[in-house]
Amino acid sequence: MKKILELITEEMEKAFEKAGYDRKYARVTLSNRPDLCEYQCNGAMAAAKEYHKAPIMIANEVTEALEGTKLLQEVQAVNPGFINLKIRGGFLCDYLNEMMADERLGYEETRNPKTVMIDYGGPNVAKPLHVGHLRSAIIGESVKRIVRYAGHRVIGDVHLGDWGLQMGLIIVELRERKPELVYFDETYAGNYPEEAPFTIAELEEIYPTASAKSKEDMIYKEAAMQATFELQHGRRGYQALLKHILHVSVTDLKQNYANLNVDFDLWKGESDAQPYIPQMVQEMKDRGYAHMSDGALVVDIKEENDTKEVPPCMLLKSDGASLYTTTDLATIVERMKLYHPDEIVYVVDKRQEMHFVQVFRCARKCGLVEEGTALKFLGFGTMNGRDGKPFKTREGGVMRLQYLLSDINEEMLRKIQESRPMSEDEAQKIAKIVGLSAVKYGDLSNQASKDYIFDVERFTSSEGNTGPYILYTIVRIKSILKKYAEQGGSARGARIMVCENESEKTLLRELARYNSVMENACEELAPHKICAYIYDLANAFNKFYHETSILGTEEKEKQDSRIQVLMLTRRVLEACIDLLGFEAPERM
Ligand code: ARG
Repeated sequence: MKKILELITEEMEKAFEKAGYDRKYARVTLSNRPDLCEYQCNGAMAAAKEYHKAPIMIANEVTEALEGTKLLQEVQAVNPGFINLKIRGGFLCDYLNEMMADERLGYEETRNPKTVMIDYGGPNVAKPLHVGHLRSAIIGESVKRIVRYAGHRVIGDVHLGDWGLQMGLIIVELRERKPELVYFDETYAGNYPEEAPFTIAELEEIYPTASAKSKEDMIYKEAAMQATFELQHGRRGYQALLKHILHVSVTDLKQNYANLNVDFDLWKGESDAQPYIPQMVQEMKDRGYAHMSDGALVVDIKEENDTKEVPPCMLLKSDGASLYTTTDLATIVERMKLYHPDEIVYVVDKRQEMHFVQVFRCARKCGLVEEGTALKFLGFGTMNGRDGKPFKTREGGVMRLQYLLSDINEEMLRKIQESRPMSEDEAQKIAKIVGLSAVKYGDLSNQASKDYIFDVERFTSSEGNTGPYILYTIVRIKSILKKYAEQGGSARGARIMVCENESEKTLLRELARYNSVMENACEELAPHKICAYIYDLANAFNKFYHETSILGTEEKEKQDSRIQVLMLTRRVLEACIDLLGFEAPERM
Protein backbone atom coordinates (compact mmCIF):
# COMPACT_ATOMS: atom_id res chain seq x y z
CA MET A 1 0.00 0.00 0.00
CA LYS A 2 1.15 3.49 -0.71
CA LYS A 3 2.01 5.57 2.30
CA ILE A 4 -0.50 8.17 3.35
CA LEU A 5 2.11 10.90 2.84
CA GLU A 6 2.71 9.65 -0.70
CA LEU A 7 -0.98 9.87 -1.48
CA ILE A 8 -1.24 13.41 -0.19
CA THR A 9 1.95 14.33 -2.00
CA GLU A 10 0.50 12.97 -5.26
CA GLU A 11 -2.56 15.15 -4.75
CA MET A 12 -0.30 18.13 -4.22
CA GLU A 13 1.74 17.28 -7.31
CA LYS A 14 -1.37 17.56 -9.42
CA ALA A 15 -2.13 20.91 -7.85
CA PHE A 16 1.40 22.26 -8.36
CA GLU A 17 1.27 21.26 -12.01
CA LYS A 18 -2.17 22.66 -12.51
CA ALA A 19 -0.96 25.96 -11.10
CA GLY A 20 2.00 25.86 -13.49
CA TYR A 21 4.77 24.76 -11.16
CA ASP A 22 7.09 21.80 -11.08
CA ARG A 23 5.73 18.82 -9.20
CA LYS A 24 9.04 18.30 -7.45
CA TYR A 25 8.03 21.00 -4.98
CA ALA A 26 4.95 19.15 -3.81
CA ARG A 27 6.42 17.02 -1.05
CA VAL A 28 4.19 16.72 2.02
CA THR A 29 5.37 15.97 5.56
CA LEU A 30 3.74 15.52 8.92
CA SER A 31 2.98 18.83 10.53
CA ASN A 32 5.39 20.26 13.01
CA ARG A 33 2.64 22.54 14.26
CA PRO A 34 -0.07 20.05 15.22
CA ASP A 35 -2.04 22.93 16.73
CA LEU A 36 -2.49 24.42 13.24
CA CYS A 37 -2.62 21.53 10.83
CA GLU A 38 -2.08 17.81 10.34
CA TYR A 39 0.23 17.81 7.33
CA GLN A 40 2.18 20.50 5.58
CA CYS A 41 3.88 21.33 2.33
CA ASN A 42 6.74 23.81 2.29
CA GLY A 43 7.47 23.55 -1.42
CA ALA A 44 6.30 27.05 -2.28
CA MET A 45 9.33 28.45 -0.45
CA ALA A 46 11.76 26.53 -2.63
CA ALA A 47 9.73 27.15 -5.78
CA ALA A 48 9.86 30.89 -5.11
CA LYS A 49 13.54 30.95 -6.02
CA GLU A 50 13.07 29.21 -9.34
CA TYR A 51 10.01 31.19 -10.37
CA HIS A 52 11.08 34.53 -8.90
CA LYS A 53 7.77 34.99 -7.16
CA ALA A 54 6.71 35.54 -3.58
CA PRO A 55 6.21 32.16 -1.90
CA ILE A 56 2.80 33.14 -0.58
CA MET A 57 1.58 33.80 -4.13
CA ILE A 58 2.61 30.33 -5.19
CA ALA A 59 1.05 28.86 -2.07
CA ASN A 60 -2.19 30.68 -2.83
CA GLU A 61 -2.29 29.46 -6.40
CA VAL A 62 -1.67 25.88 -5.38
CA THR A 63 -4.35 26.17 -2.74
CA GLU A 64 -6.81 27.34 -5.38
CA ALA A 65 -5.82 24.46 -7.63
CA LEU A 66 -6.85 22.11 -4.85
CA GLU A 67 -10.51 23.15 -5.08
CA GLY A 68 -12.73 20.14 -4.99
CA THR A 69 -10.12 17.72 -3.63
CA LYS A 70 -11.54 14.52 -2.20
CA LEU A 71 -8.55 13.94 -0.03
CA LEU A 72 -8.26 17.11 1.92
CA GLN A 73 -10.74 18.78 4.13
CA GLU A 74 -8.84 21.96 4.66
CA VAL A 75 -6.08 23.70 2.73
CA GLN A 76 -4.64 26.95 3.87
CA ALA A 77 -1.80 29.08 2.57
CA VAL A 78 -0.13 31.00 5.36
CA ASN A 79 2.71 33.45 5.48
CA PRO A 80 5.42 33.34 4.40
CA GLY A 81 4.32 30.51 2.09
CA PHE A 82 3.46 27.35 3.98
CA ILE A 83 0.54 25.25 2.89
CA ASN A 84 -1.26 23.78 5.88
CA LEU A 85 -3.33 20.69 5.30
CA LYS A 86 -6.01 18.70 7.03
CA ILE A 87 -7.06 15.35 5.71
CA ARG A 88 -10.67 14.38 5.09
CA GLY A 89 -11.97 11.92 7.67
CA GLY A 90 -13.67 9.78 5.05
CA PHE A 91 -10.48 9.41 3.08
CA LEU A 92 -8.60 8.43 6.22
CA CYS A 93 -11.23 5.80 7.01
CA ASP A 94 -10.94 4.34 3.50
CA TYR A 95 -7.22 4.12 3.93
CA LEU A 96 -7.54 2.29 7.24
CA ASN A 97 -10.10 -0.13 5.85
CA GLU A 98 -7.67 -1.09 3.16
CA MET A 99 -4.93 -1.46 5.75
CA MET A 100 -7.17 -3.61 7.92
CA ALA A 101 -7.88 -5.96 5.02
CA ASP A 102 -4.19 -6.55 4.48
CA GLU A 103 -2.37 -9.19 6.45
CA ARG A 104 0.73 -6.97 6.54
CA LEU A 105 -1.25 -3.88 7.53
CA GLY A 106 -0.30 -2.08 4.34
CA TYR A 107 3.44 -2.51 4.72
CA GLU A 108 4.74 -4.01 1.50
CA GLU A 109 7.55 -6.49 1.37
CA THR A 110 10.73 -5.24 -0.25
CA ARG A 111 11.01 -5.80 -3.99
CA ASN A 112 14.70 -6.60 -3.81
CA PRO A 113 15.36 -8.92 -0.92
CA LYS A 114 18.92 -9.06 0.31
CA THR A 115 20.76 -11.57 2.45
CA VAL A 116 21.63 -9.83 5.67
CA MET A 117 23.76 -11.37 8.40
CA ILE A 118 23.46 -9.98 11.88
CA ASP A 119 26.30 -10.54 14.31
CA TYR A 120 24.92 -10.02 17.80
CA GLY A 121 24.90 -11.48 21.27
CA GLY A 122 28.63 -12.20 21.26
CA PRO A 123 28.74 -13.99 24.62
CA ASN A 124 32.01 -15.46 25.76
CA VAL A 125 31.89 -19.15 26.45
CA ALA A 126 32.18 -20.13 30.11
CA LYS A 127 32.09 -16.54 31.26
CA PRO A 128 28.86 -15.28 32.76
CA LEU A 129 26.68 -13.00 30.66
CA HIS A 130 26.87 -9.43 31.85
CA VAL A 131 24.86 -6.32 31.08
CA GLY A 132 27.03 -5.40 28.09
CA HIS A 133 25.84 -8.54 26.39
CA LEU A 134 22.27 -7.65 27.21
CA ARG A 135 22.23 -4.63 24.93
CA SER A 136 23.69 -6.56 22.02
CA ALA A 137 21.08 -9.29 22.44
CA ILE A 138 18.14 -6.91 22.78
CA ILE A 139 19.08 -4.56 19.95
CA GLY A 140 20.30 -7.31 17.64
CA GLU A 141 17.17 -9.37 18.10
CA SER A 142 14.96 -6.41 17.28
CA VAL A 143 17.01 -5.39 14.26
CA LYS A 144 16.86 -8.98 13.03
CA ARG A 145 13.07 -9.03 13.29
CA ILE A 146 12.66 -5.63 11.66
CA VAL A 147 14.83 -6.50 8.68
CA ARG A 148 13.24 -9.92 8.29
CA TYR A 149 9.76 -8.42 8.41
CA ALA A 150 10.72 -6.13 5.57
CA GLY A 151 11.17 -9.25 3.47
CA HIS A 152 14.92 -9.78 3.52
CA ARG A 153 16.65 -13.10 4.16
CA VAL A 154 18.17 -12.62 7.57
CA ILE A 155 20.69 -14.81 9.35
CA GLY A 156 21.36 -14.07 13.00
CA ASP A 157 24.69 -15.37 14.26
CA VAL A 158 25.60 -15.40 17.95
CA HIS A 159 29.33 -15.35 17.21
CA LEU A 160 30.53 -16.96 20.43
CA GLY A 161 33.75 -15.84 22.01
CA ASP A 162 35.25 -19.31 22.19
CA TRP A 163 38.84 -18.79 21.18
CA GLY A 164 40.61 -17.04 23.96
CA LEU A 165 42.75 -17.48 27.00
CA GLN A 166 39.62 -18.33 28.98
CA MET A 167 39.75 -21.83 27.53
CA GLY A 168 43.32 -22.36 28.71
CA LEU A 169 42.42 -20.98 32.13
CA ILE A 170 39.59 -23.43 32.53
CA ILE A 171 41.74 -26.35 31.42
CA VAL A 172 44.51 -25.48 33.87
CA GLU A 173 42.15 -25.02 36.77
CA LEU A 174 40.45 -28.28 35.98
CA ARG A 175 43.83 -30.03 35.82
CA GLU A 176 44.67 -28.76 39.30
CA ARG A 177 41.40 -30.02 40.68
CA LYS A 178 41.14 -33.33 38.86
CA PRO A 179 44.55 -34.32 37.49
CA GLU A 180 43.42 -37.90 37.16
CA LEU A 181 40.99 -37.07 34.33
CA VAL A 182 41.81 -38.90 31.13
CA TYR A 183 41.86 -35.63 29.17
CA PHE A 184 45.21 -34.80 30.71
CA ASP A 185 46.87 -38.11 29.88
CA GLU A 186 48.92 -37.45 26.77
CA THR A 187 49.44 -41.13 26.08
CA TYR A 188 45.71 -41.82 26.00
CA ALA A 189 44.54 -42.79 22.51
CA GLY A 190 40.99 -44.04 23.12
CA ASN A 191 37.66 -42.26 22.95
CA TYR A 192 36.82 -39.62 25.54
CA PRO A 193 33.72 -39.84 27.76
CA GLU A 194 30.46 -38.47 26.41
CA GLU A 195 29.62 -36.72 29.62
CA ALA A 196 31.32 -33.50 30.68
CA PRO A 197 33.51 -33.69 33.80
CA PHE A 198 31.75 -30.60 35.25
CA THR A 199 28.31 -29.00 35.52
CA ILE A 200 27.42 -25.48 34.42
CA ALA A 201 27.50 -24.34 38.04
CA GLU A 202 31.06 -25.64 38.42
CA LEU A 203 32.08 -24.15 35.11
CA GLU A 204 30.76 -20.76 36.14
CA GLU A 205 32.77 -20.95 39.29
CA ILE A 206 35.94 -22.33 37.67
CA TYR A 207 36.44 -19.46 35.27
CA PRO A 208 36.41 -16.55 37.76
CA THR A 209 38.61 -18.52 40.14
CA ALA A 210 41.13 -19.27 37.42
CA SER A 211 41.00 -15.74 36.10
CA ALA A 212 41.69 -14.29 39.56
CA LYS A 213 44.56 -16.72 40.15
CA SER A 214 46.20 -15.88 36.83
CA LYS A 215 46.34 -12.24 37.81
CA GLU A 216 48.37 -13.02 40.94
CA ASP A 217 50.36 -16.02 39.81
CA MET A 218 52.58 -15.65 36.73
CA ILE A 219 53.38 -19.36 36.58
CA TYR A 220 49.69 -20.19 36.58
CA LYS A 221 49.13 -17.70 33.80
CA GLU A 222 52.00 -19.13 31.77
CA ALA A 223 50.44 -22.55 32.14
CA ALA A 224 47.10 -21.24 30.92
CA MET A 225 48.75 -19.64 27.91
CA GLN A 226 50.57 -22.86 27.19
CA ALA A 227 47.32 -24.84 27.46
CA THR A 228 45.61 -22.38 25.12
CA PHE A 229 48.44 -22.80 22.65
CA GLU A 230 48.29 -26.59 22.82
CA LEU A 231 44.52 -26.53 22.47
CA GLN A 232 44.79 -24.34 19.40
CA HIS A 233 47.41 -26.62 17.95
CA GLY A 234 45.34 -29.72 18.21
CA ARG A 235 46.06 -31.48 21.51
CA ARG A 236 43.38 -34.17 21.55
CA GLY A 237 42.49 -34.21 25.24
CA TYR A 238 42.12 -30.45 25.32
CA GLN A 239 40.00 -30.41 22.22
CA ALA A 240 37.73 -32.96 23.82
CA LEU A 241 37.49 -30.69 26.86
CA LEU A 242 36.73 -27.71 24.63
CA LYS A 243 33.80 -29.64 23.19
CA HIS A 244 32.46 -30.25 26.69
CA ILE A 245 32.96 -26.62 27.72
CA LEU A 246 31.18 -25.47 24.58
CA HIS A 247 28.33 -27.88 24.98
CA VAL A 248 27.67 -27.16 28.63
CA SER A 249 28.03 -23.43 28.14
CA VAL A 250 25.89 -23.23 25.01
CA THR A 251 23.10 -25.26 26.62
CA ASP A 252 23.03 -22.74 29.43
CA LEU A 253 23.30 -19.75 27.09
CA LYS A 254 20.38 -21.00 25.04
CA GLN A 255 18.28 -21.10 28.18
CA ASN A 256 19.34 -17.58 29.10
CA TYR A 257 18.56 -16.22 25.67
CA ALA A 258 15.25 -18.05 25.57
CA ASN A 259 14.27 -16.21 28.75
CA LEU A 260 15.00 -13.01 26.91
CA ASN A 261 12.97 -14.09 23.88
CA VAL A 262 16.13 -13.97 21.80
CA ASP A 263 17.15 -16.67 19.39
CA PHE A 264 19.85 -17.24 16.82
CA ASP A 265 19.89 -18.99 13.47
CA LEU A 266 23.56 -19.81 13.82
CA TRP A 267 25.57 -20.76 16.87
CA LYS A 268 28.95 -20.26 15.31
CA GLY A 269 31.94 -18.87 17.06
CA GLU A 270 35.43 -17.54 16.74
CA SER A 271 36.82 -21.05 16.65
CA ASP A 272 34.90 -21.82 13.45
CA ALA A 273 36.81 -19.11 11.64
CA GLN A 274 40.28 -20.37 12.58
CA PRO A 275 40.68 -22.82 9.67
CA TYR A 276 40.32 -19.91 7.25
CA ILE A 277 43.23 -17.96 8.72
CA PRO A 278 46.32 -19.59 7.11
CA GLN A 279 45.15 -19.23 3.53
CA MET A 280 43.74 -15.76 4.11
CA VAL A 281 47.02 -14.55 5.58
CA GLN A 282 49.04 -16.19 2.83
CA GLU A 283 47.02 -14.46 0.14
CA MET A 284 47.32 -11.11 1.83
CA LYS A 285 51.06 -11.58 1.82
CA ASP A 286 51.22 -12.85 -1.75
CA ARG A 287 49.18 -10.00 -3.08
CA GLY A 288 51.33 -7.48 -1.31
CA TYR A 289 48.76 -6.15 1.13
CA ALA A 290 50.42 -7.43 4.28
CA HIS A 291 53.94 -6.58 5.32
CA MET A 292 56.17 -7.02 8.34
CA SER A 293 56.48 -4.21 10.81
CA ASP A 294 58.41 -4.60 14.07
CA GLY A 295 58.17 -8.37 13.72
CA ALA A 296 54.37 -8.31 13.32
CA LEU A 297 52.41 -8.85 10.13
CA VAL A 298 50.21 -5.82 9.37
CA VAL A 299 48.06 -4.24 6.67
CA ASP A 300 48.12 -0.47 6.30
CA ILE A 301 44.67 1.03 6.17
CA LYS A 302 45.21 4.74 6.70
CA GLU A 303 43.20 6.98 4.42
CA GLU A 304 43.90 10.50 3.29
CA ASN A 305 40.90 12.12 4.88
CA ASP A 306 41.28 10.51 8.29
CA THR A 307 40.83 12.97 11.09
CA LYS A 308 41.76 10.35 13.67
CA GLU A 309 44.82 8.17 13.61
CA VAL A 310 43.87 4.73 12.25
CA PRO A 311 46.61 2.28 13.22
CA PRO A 312 47.59 -0.53 10.84
CA CYS A 313 45.55 -3.67 11.08
CA MET A 314 47.60 -6.35 12.83
CA LEU A 315 47.18 -9.91 11.53
CA LEU A 316 49.87 -11.88 13.35
CA LYS A 317 51.89 -10.96 16.40
CA SER A 318 55.65 -11.50 16.37
CA ASP A 319 55.16 -14.92 17.99
CA GLY A 320 52.86 -15.88 15.14
CA ALA A 321 49.69 -15.74 17.23
CA SER A 322 46.55 -14.37 15.59
CA LEU A 323 44.37 -11.70 17.15
CA TYR A 324 40.74 -10.65 17.60
CA THR A 325 41.09 -8.74 14.32
CA THR A 326 42.42 -11.78 12.47
CA THR A 327 39.49 -13.83 13.71
CA ASP A 328 36.97 -11.21 12.59
CA LEU A 329 38.58 -11.04 9.15
CA ALA A 330 38.55 -14.81 8.81
CA THR A 331 34.92 -14.82 9.93
CA ILE A 332 34.16 -12.51 7.02
CA VAL A 333 35.89 -14.94 4.65
CA GLU A 334 33.86 -17.79 6.13
CA ARG A 335 30.59 -15.90 5.91
CA MET A 336 31.17 -14.85 2.31
CA LYS A 337 31.96 -18.41 1.37
CA LEU A 338 29.07 -20.08 3.17
CA TYR A 339 26.28 -17.50 3.04
CA HIS A 340 27.15 -14.82 0.42
CA PRO A 341 25.62 -11.97 2.43
CA ASP A 342 24.84 -8.65 0.77
CA GLU A 343 25.23 -7.03 4.14
CA ILE A 344 26.77 -7.88 7.51
CA VAL A 345 25.61 -5.87 10.50
CA TYR A 346 27.60 -5.95 13.76
CA VAL A 347 25.72 -5.07 16.91
CA VAL A 348 28.58 -4.43 19.30
CA ASP A 349 29.58 -2.00 22.04
CA LYS A 350 30.60 1.26 20.43
CA ARG A 351 33.88 1.18 22.32
CA GLN A 352 34.91 -1.43 19.77
CA GLU A 353 34.35 0.95 16.89
CA MET A 354 38.02 1.36 15.96
CA HIS A 355 38.43 -2.39 15.81
CA PHE A 356 35.65 -2.54 13.24
CA VAL A 357 36.96 0.41 11.26
CA GLN A 358 40.18 -1.58 10.92
CA VAL A 359 38.46 -4.84 10.09
CA PHE A 360 36.16 -3.26 7.49
CA ARG A 361 38.90 -1.32 5.76
CA CYS A 362 41.22 -4.29 5.72
CA ALA A 363 38.49 -6.57 4.37
CA ARG A 364 37.75 -4.12 1.54
CA LYS A 365 41.34 -3.41 0.70
CA CYS A 366 42.22 -7.10 0.53
CA GLY A 367 39.08 -8.01 -1.39
CA LEU A 368 37.62 -10.30 1.26
CA VAL A 369 34.17 -8.92 0.46
CA GLU A 370 32.60 -8.19 -2.88
CA GLU A 371 32.16 -4.61 -3.83
CA GLY A 372 28.43 -4.71 -3.28
CA THR A 373 28.63 -6.21 0.19
CA ALA A 374 27.97 -3.65 2.89
CA LEU A 375 29.66 -3.92 6.28
CA LYS A 376 27.81 -1.98 8.96
CA PHE A 377 28.73 -1.27 12.52
CA LEU A 378 25.78 -0.68 14.80
CA GLY A 379 27.61 0.45 17.92
CA PHE A 380 25.67 0.83 21.13
CA GLY A 381 26.35 2.96 24.16
CA THR A 382 26.85 1.98 27.77
CA MET A 383 24.09 1.09 30.14
CA ASN A 384 24.66 3.10 33.30
CA GLY A 385 23.26 2.90 36.80
CA ARG A 386 21.23 5.68 38.37
CA ASP A 387 24.45 7.35 39.46
CA GLY A 388 25.34 7.75 35.78
CA LYS A 389 28.27 5.35 36.05
CA PRO A 390 28.58 1.93 34.41
CA PHE A 391 26.33 -0.57 36.02
CA LYS A 392 27.76 -2.41 39.03
CA THR A 393 26.39 -4.82 41.59
CA ARG A 394 25.82 -3.58 45.11
CA GLU A 395 29.19 -5.10 45.93
CA GLY A 396 30.84 -3.23 43.06
CA GLY A 397 31.43 -6.16 40.71
CA VAL A 398 30.34 -6.47 37.10
CA MET A 399 26.60 -6.85 37.12
CA ARG A 400 25.45 -10.22 35.92
CA LEU A 401 22.53 -10.33 33.61
CA GLN A 402 20.57 -12.76 35.77
CA TYR A 403 20.65 -10.44 38.78
CA LEU A 404 19.54 -7.49 36.79
CA LEU A 405 16.60 -9.38 35.35
CA SER A 406 15.57 -10.73 38.71
CA ASP A 407 15.71 -7.19 40.16
CA ILE A 408 13.28 -6.04 37.46
CA ASN A 409 10.99 -9.04 37.91
CA GLU A 410 10.85 -8.55 41.65
CA GLU A 411 9.89 -4.91 41.32
CA MET A 412 7.34 -5.78 38.66
CA LEU A 413 5.83 -8.47 40.86
CA ARG A 414 5.57 -6.04 43.75
CA LYS A 415 3.79 -3.48 41.56
CA ILE A 416 1.41 -6.04 40.09
CA GLN A 417 0.43 -7.46 43.46
CA GLU A 418 -0.04 -3.97 44.80
CA SER A 419 -2.38 -2.95 42.02
CA ARG A 420 -4.81 -5.82 42.34
CA PRO A 421 -5.25 -9.20 43.97
CA MET A 422 -4.42 -12.32 42.00
CA SER A 423 -2.87 -15.68 42.65
CA GLU A 424 0.86 -15.79 43.34
CA ASP A 425 1.29 -18.04 40.35
CA GLU A 426 -0.45 -15.75 37.91
CA ALA A 427 1.27 -12.67 39.31
CA GLN A 428 4.64 -14.30 38.74
CA LYS A 429 3.85 -15.21 35.17
CA ILE A 430 2.64 -11.73 34.39
CA ALA A 431 5.61 -10.13 36.15
CA LYS A 432 7.93 -12.08 33.90
CA ILE A 433 6.20 -10.98 30.70
CA VAL A 434 5.85 -7.36 31.76
CA GLY A 435 9.34 -7.30 33.27
CA LEU A 436 10.83 -8.26 29.93
CA SER A 437 8.96 -5.42 28.25
CA ALA A 438 10.35 -3.05 30.87
CA VAL A 439 13.94 -4.07 30.20
CA LYS A 440 13.65 -4.21 26.43
CA TYR A 441 11.63 -1.06 25.94
CA GLY A 442 13.86 0.79 28.40
CA ASP A 443 16.79 -0.10 26.20
CA LEU A 444 15.28 0.13 22.72
CA SER A 445 13.51 3.43 23.22
CA ASN A 446 16.90 5.15 23.23
CA GLN A 447 18.86 5.60 20.07
CA ALA A 448 21.26 2.64 20.22
CA SER A 449 24.47 4.68 20.09
CA LYS A 450 23.54 6.67 23.19
CA ASP A 451 24.36 5.72 26.76
CA TYR A 452 21.34 5.37 28.98
CA ILE A 453 20.44 5.00 32.60
CA PHE A 454 18.95 1.75 33.72
CA ASP A 455 16.30 2.85 36.15
CA VAL A 456 14.26 -0.01 37.58
CA GLU A 457 11.74 2.35 39.13
CA ARG A 458 11.08 4.26 35.91
CA PHE A 459 11.23 1.28 33.54
CA THR A 460 8.65 -0.68 35.51
CA SER A 461 6.23 2.23 35.83
CA SER A 462 2.96 1.85 33.99
CA GLU A 463 2.93 5.56 33.22
CA GLY A 464 5.18 7.43 30.83
CA ASN A 465 7.29 6.18 27.98
CA THR A 466 7.75 2.61 29.19
CA GLY A 467 7.14 -0.97 28.12
CA PRO A 468 4.52 -1.58 30.83
CA TYR A 469 2.59 1.50 29.65
CA ILE A 470 2.41 0.07 26.14
CA LEU A 471 1.31 -3.30 27.52
CA TYR A 472 -1.35 -1.67 29.70
CA THR A 473 -2.74 -0.04 26.61
CA ILE A 474 -2.91 -3.34 24.77
CA VAL A 475 -4.48 -5.08 27.75
CA ARG A 476 -7.02 -2.29 28.03
CA ILE A 477 -8.03 -2.81 24.41
CA LYS A 478 -8.24 -6.55 24.90
CA SER A 479 -10.48 -6.16 27.89
CA ILE A 480 -12.87 -3.80 26.09
CA LEU A 481 -13.07 -6.22 23.19
CA LYS A 482 -13.72 -9.06 25.57
CA LYS A 483 -16.49 -7.20 27.29
CA TYR A 484 -17.99 -6.34 23.95
CA ALA A 485 -17.96 -10.00 22.91
CA GLU A 486 -19.50 -10.99 26.25
CA GLN A 487 -22.33 -8.58 25.61
CA GLY A 488 -22.98 -10.46 22.41
CA GLY A 489 -21.37 -7.89 20.13
CA SER A 490 -19.87 -8.79 16.81
CA ALA A 491 -18.45 -6.21 14.47
CA ARG A 492 -17.41 -8.80 11.93
CA GLY A 493 -17.16 -7.33 8.47
CA ALA A 494 -17.84 -3.82 9.72
CA ARG A 495 -15.94 -0.89 8.29
CA ILE A 496 -14.23 2.02 9.90
CA MET A 497 -16.42 4.95 8.93
CA VAL A 498 -16.61 7.33 11.84
CA CYS A 499 -14.20 10.12 12.48
CA GLU A 500 -16.10 12.42 14.73
CA ASN A 501 -13.89 14.21 17.16
CA GLU A 502 -10.30 15.40 17.28
CA SER A 503 -8.98 12.58 19.41
CA GLU A 504 -10.58 9.99 17.19
CA LYS A 505 -9.04 11.57 14.14
CA THR A 506 -5.63 11.80 15.78
CA LEU A 507 -5.78 8.10 16.53
CA LEU A 508 -6.72 7.30 12.95
CA ARG A 509 -3.87 9.38 11.61
CA GLU A 510 -1.41 7.64 13.91
CA LEU A 511 -2.62 4.25 12.70
CA ALA A 512 -2.13 5.34 9.10
CA ARG A 513 1.57 6.03 9.73
CA TYR A 514 2.36 2.37 10.32
CA ASN A 515 3.93 1.40 6.98
CA SER A 516 6.01 4.51 6.79
CA VAL A 517 7.42 3.97 10.30
CA MET A 518 8.25 0.33 9.55
CA GLU A 519 10.07 1.23 6.38
CA ASN A 520 12.07 3.93 8.08
CA ALA A 521 12.99 1.75 11.07
CA CYS A 522 14.32 -0.87 8.67
CA GLU A 523 16.28 1.57 6.53
CA GLU A 524 17.96 3.05 9.55
CA LEU A 525 18.16 -0.16 11.61
CA ALA A 526 16.47 1.84 14.32
CA PRO A 527 14.15 0.09 16.79
CA HIS A 528 13.82 3.37 18.70
CA LYS A 529 11.69 4.70 15.85
CA ILE A 530 9.17 1.95 16.52
CA CYS A 531 9.19 2.76 20.23
CA ALA A 532 8.56 6.42 19.53
CA TYR A 533 5.72 5.47 17.23
CA ILE A 534 3.92 3.14 19.61
CA TYR A 535 4.29 5.65 22.41
CA ASP A 536 2.50 8.24 20.27
CA LEU A 537 -0.04 5.67 19.19
CA ALA A 538 -0.71 4.51 22.75
CA ASN A 539 -1.13 8.12 23.87
CA ALA A 540 -3.51 8.79 21.01
CA PHE A 541 -5.47 5.70 21.87
CA ASN A 542 -5.75 6.49 25.57
CA LYS A 543 -6.90 10.01 24.87
CA PHE A 544 -9.51 8.69 22.48
CA TYR A 545 -10.60 6.11 25.03
CA HIS A 546 -11.09 8.71 27.74
CA GLU A 547 -12.99 11.12 25.51
CA THR A 548 -15.11 8.77 23.49
CA SER A 549 -17.89 6.44 24.32
CA ILE A 550 -17.22 3.06 22.81
CA LEU A 551 -19.39 0.39 24.38
CA GLY A 552 -21.88 3.03 25.47
CA THR A 553 -22.53 4.18 21.90
CA GLU A 554 -26.16 3.64 20.95
CA GLU A 555 -25.83 3.57 17.19
CA LYS A 556 -24.63 0.20 16.02
CA GLU A 557 -22.76 1.52 13.00
CA LYS A 558 -20.77 3.90 15.09
CA GLN A 559 -20.01 1.31 17.68
CA ASP A 560 -18.93 -1.23 15.08
CA SER A 561 -16.63 1.28 13.48
CA ARG A 562 -14.99 2.05 16.80
CA ILE A 563 -14.62 -1.61 17.63
CA GLN A 564 -12.80 -2.01 14.33
CA VAL A 565 -10.52 0.86 15.25
CA LEU A 566 -9.76 -0.90 18.52
CA MET A 567 -8.96 -4.12 16.76
CA LEU A 568 -6.72 -2.36 14.31
CA THR A 569 -4.93 -0.50 17.09
CA ARG A 570 -4.34 -3.77 18.87
CA ARG A 571 -2.96 -5.39 15.74
CA VAL A 572 -0.60 -2.53 15.08
CA LEU A 573 0.65 -2.42 18.65
CA GLU A 574 1.13 -6.17 18.77
CA ALA A 575 2.96 -6.23 15.46
CA CYS A 576 5.27 -3.52 16.77
CA ILE A 577 6.08 -5.10 20.12
CA ASP A 578 6.78 -8.35 18.34
CA LEU A 579 9.42 -6.52 16.33
CA LEU A 580 10.84 -5.18 19.57
CA GLY A 581 10.97 -8.72 20.92
CA PHE A 582 8.35 -8.85 23.67
CA GLU A 583 4.68 -9.66 24.04
CA ALA A 584 1.58 -8.66 25.97
CA PRO A 585 -0.19 -10.72 28.64
CA GLU A 586 -3.94 -11.32 28.56
CA ARG A 587 -4.44 -9.20 31.65
CA MET A 588 -2.31 -7.39 34.16
N1 ARG B 1 32.69 -11.53 22.36
C1 ARG B 1 32.88 -10.13 22.16
C2 ARG B 1 32.81 -9.40 23.51
O1 ARG B 1 32.32 -9.94 24.48
C3 ARG B 1 31.87 -9.53 21.22
C4 ARG B 1 31.89 -10.08 19.81
C5 ARG B 1 31.37 -9.10 18.81
N2 ARG B 1 31.34 -9.58 17.47
C6 ARG B 1 32.41 -9.68 16.66
N3 ARG B 1 32.29 -10.19 15.47
N4 ARG B 1 33.58 -9.24 17.05
O2 ARG B 1 33.26 -8.27 23.57
